[in-house]
Amino acid sequence: MVPPADPEPAAHPPALAVIGAGYVGLATAAGFASLGHRVAVGEADSDRLGALQQSRLPIYEPGLGEVVRRESEAGRLAFFADNARAAAGAAAVFLAVPTPEGEGGSVDLSAVGRAIVSLTGAALAPAAPIVVKSSVPPGSWRKIRRMLDEAGMPSPLVVNPEFLQEGRALDGVLNPHRVVVGGEDPAAVDLVAALHEPLGAPIVRTDPTSAELIKYAANAYLATRLTFVNAVANLAEDLGADVGDVLAGLAHDPRIGSHYLTPGPGYGGSCFPKDVRALIAAAAEHDHDLRLFRVVVETNDAQLDRVVAKLRDGLGDLDGAVIGLLGLAFKGGTDDTRSSPAVAIAGRLLDAGARVRAFDPAVRMAPPGVEAVPDAISAVAGADAVLVATEWPEFAALDPARLAAVMRGTLVVDARNLLDREAVAAAGLRYRGVGR
Ligand code: UGA
Repeated sequence: MVPPADPEPAAHPPALAVIGAGYVGLATAAGFASLGHRVAVGEADSDRLGALQQSRLPIYEPGLGEVVRRESEAGRLAFFADNARAAAGAAAVFLAVPTPEGEGGSVDLSAVGRAIVSLTGAALAPAAPIVVKSSVPPGSWRKIRRMLDEAGMPSPLVVNPEFLQEGRALDGVLNPHRVVVGGEDPAAVDLVAALHEPLGAPIVRTDPTSAELIKYAANAYLATRLTFVNAVANLAEDLGADVGDVLAGLAHDPRIGSHYLTPGPGYGGSCFPKDVRALIAAAAEHDHDLRLFRVVVETNDAQLDRVVAKLRDGLGDLDGAVIGLLGLAFKGGTDDTRSSPAVAIAGRLLDAGARVRAFDPAVRMAPPGVEAVPDAISAVAGADAVLVATEWPEFAALDPARLAAVMRGTLVVDARNLLDREAVAAAGLRYRGVGR
């Protein structure tokens, strides 16, 4: 009998490790597992880890839970409390730990430092790189290199930023528009590039600082674009124009395009606000005043005030007013409230003496002072004004006649241009959108 041929090497892909099971780490791990790799994830938070070990997702991220369950059952995905154990034998270790805002807009790299210390002595595969997936401002890799050296880890360092959007994280990992791989060690860069080749996306190979800057420049561009869109919307309001028609007219120009053009209450989330400030801080270290981005930050903040002003103008006084707040997440499709415009506006309303009653389909905990209610109608019932702050489809489906019937007042401020303004007006309510 002829013995069976050896399987193709591709059928035995090397094991990978991912440190940190947040949006980026989980989606990265699930993505690599679904490409056939064996992936071990290290997670320090015991609640998060406990949920994942039972194949439950500790975050709201559509579609990701099923893939985590499937890949865990197939034996390709496993979760560990001990990062060194997760990394044992790994051909590459991806760091996907939080890099929150530190002092003066700088970024706090201490979780990266802790992750590196936790990997000391881990039996990685020979020449396995440490791959930075977390967002770190340009120049950070030198600090991370030092952390590795201090931990006695000679591993090559690769910068491989993630561009996924929350709410569609797995799609961002499996269908990226590009993959950026920056590093000083060509073999390590090749290895990380090869891991991404099956995705079919263009691969940009570069030095580590450029890789870091690509990520921050992309986010700063998008934040600036949204600030521009909001400025046009505000101008349209002043002039009595319709921003929807104006932007549709702009979007036909292929140099502008139609994507990422929705005006709103200002950009938010865990990335844009932090990343734009980090870029300003990184430039300041080189005595460079990034005025453009300072204006973006200020203008974005003023956009929140405009929403509050629409409520104040429409109600006469906010003191004692009851506001039904629809949405707490920073955008629809996520449970993330980090730097959420909805939460920031709620804070300003509370400061002005208003009572805020909020509902969000994915967020259970309301911020301090805000009353969380179990459904949209409970938020709206008895309210003097309704504020649509997050673009959940179920808010668009609310029947304006029902809103009118349960509200005490008549004002509807739609900070996402989500509702059908004619239907709202037909129900006898006063509609205030953005730029229309
Ligand atoms: C953003 C980037 O889009 C990702 O490419 C990047 O990987 C990520 O940051 C990150 O650095 O980790 P994300 O924060 O998940 O992703 O959210 P987006 O969908 O980009 O929205 C950001 C903010 O812009 C939200 O507040 C959203 O409501 C707002 N936005 C977005 C608008 O106001 N209008 C739009 O047309 C689009």
